[in-house]
Parts: sequence; C-alpha cells; structure tokens
Amino acid sequence: MDRRVADTPEIDWSRYPLPRVRHHVNSHAYLPASQHLLLPAWYPTVRPDADWATWFANGLPADVLDIGCGRGAFLLRHALAYPELNILGLEVRQTLISWIQGVIDGESLGNAHSEWFSIANGLDWVPGHSVQYAVYLFPDPWPKKRHHKRRAFNDEFLKILHRVLVQGGRIWLATDRPEVDQHQREVLSRSDLFTVSPPLSEEEWPFPFTTDQQMFCDSKSIPYVRYYAERRP
Ligand SMILES: C[S@@+](CC[C@H](N)C(=O)[O-])C[C@H]1O[C@@H](n2cnc3c(N)ncnc32)[C@H](O)[C@@H]1O
Repeated sequence: MDRRVADTPEIDWSRYPLPRVRHHVNSHAYLPASQHLLLPAWYPTVRPDADWATWFANGLPADVLDIGCGRGAFLLRHALAYPELNILGLEVRQTLISWIQGVIDGESLGNAHSEWFSIANGLDWVPGHSVQYAVYLFPDPWPKKRHHKRRAFNDEFLKILHRVLVQGGRIWLATDRPEVDQHQREVLSRSDLFTVSPPLSEEEWPFPFTTDQQMFCDSKSIPYVRYYAERRP
C-alpha cells in the first residue's frame, strides 16, 4: 500500500471533548456471547448482520478493520488519508464508540464507521474475502494468566480473519508489551494460515499516522514492535 500523509487534513480535536472513559469494561464483555446464559445491558451488541448501506456512504462493505480501535485517532486519520477505503472500527467500550461516531458525523466522514462490538463474537456478518487488511494495534495485554482468556488474539481469531481477508491480505500488528508479542507469535507459529514478517522499521510501516497508545508510548519513550501477518492461500 502507498504511504499517504502530506495533504491529509487534520481534525480540530477541540471540537470533540473526550468523555471520561473507564480503562476496562465488565470482564465478561471480552468473552463470547455464547458463554453467557443471559446477555446483560452492558454487553456489546451481538450482530446478526451488518448495515453497510447505512454505515458507509458508498453502501459497500468494509475494506479495512480496525479491531480494538480505542479512542479512534488512528481510525479517523486513516479514513481521512484513504477516502477510497471503507474503514470500520470495532471496540468493546461503548462510550468510545459514541464519541468516535460523533467525530465521524461532525467531520462528515462517509468512509468511516465504528461499532460497539466484541471481536470475541466473530465476524460472521462480514463477507468472506472482502477485507483488504486489518489492524490490531496495541491490544490490551492482560498480563495475569487467569485473564489470558480475555485476549482476542487466538487460534479462532486467525481463522476468522483468514475467512474475511482477501488473498494476500495482512493483519498489521503493534505492541509495546513483549509478552503480547510472544503470545501473538506463538499463536501465529502454530497456525498455517498466515506468514509473519520480521519486525518492521519506521520506513517499512505503511501508516504515517499514530494510534493513541503509540502517542503515549512515544511520549514516555516506551519501545514497541510492529509487524504483519500475511494471509496464506
Ligand atoms: C490499549 S487499547 C489500544 C487502542 C488503539 N488500538 C490504540 O492503539 O490506541 C486496546 C483497545 O482494545 C479494546 N478491546 C479489548 N478487547 C476487545 C474485544 N474483545 N473487542 C473489541 N475491542 C476490544 C479495548 O477496549 C481498548 O480500547
């Protein structure tokens, strides 16, 4: 993909004050709906289908998935830089989704949409081989062993992404946590669905805009690693 930035307009963030957001939601939101007897009101929407016609101005499905899009800085700048791509953010924290949608509407971004959704529930509503690439950037680390089940990146995650990605489509990955890097590499190495790249340099990373967590890491000089997993046939 081409690296685009020079003429990208910037958002006047002062128009969109961020609400107070809790770091995590109820721990059960990170587990699939199938593991719940009853779905409480705080559980993210379990989608039976997608409403592409409403979500994107051109009415077409998503070209790009931003999984765990957080506060959406990357998602929004991505959409501004690539107006020809439909970019869909998925995020388990509802307050953030409401805020991001406010920015999308305020900036009249017809190629961006964000959904309150837990990736633990799969992507059955996304057509097969329709997504050009996905980004999974600075996921929650869940360092305690008993919390590992909340990590979205697992064998099932790879199967799901293999189904929705086009041939040769990539999952772009970034993390500042060595244990997350190791976990992802272990999951990838036992799968024959993706080929993993070595760590990428700044020049090899195609996105010239930062995520919120990346900005935090940069401000504190916290190192991070970035790479991709490319879909095999
Ligand atoms: C550390 S933040 C990083 C956000 C953003 N990607 C960035 O780089 O700034 C991780 C995000 O993933 C979201 N998340 C965690 N588990 C998720 C899940 N199962 N489905 C959707 N989003 C999830 C969290 O709510 C959080 O906003």
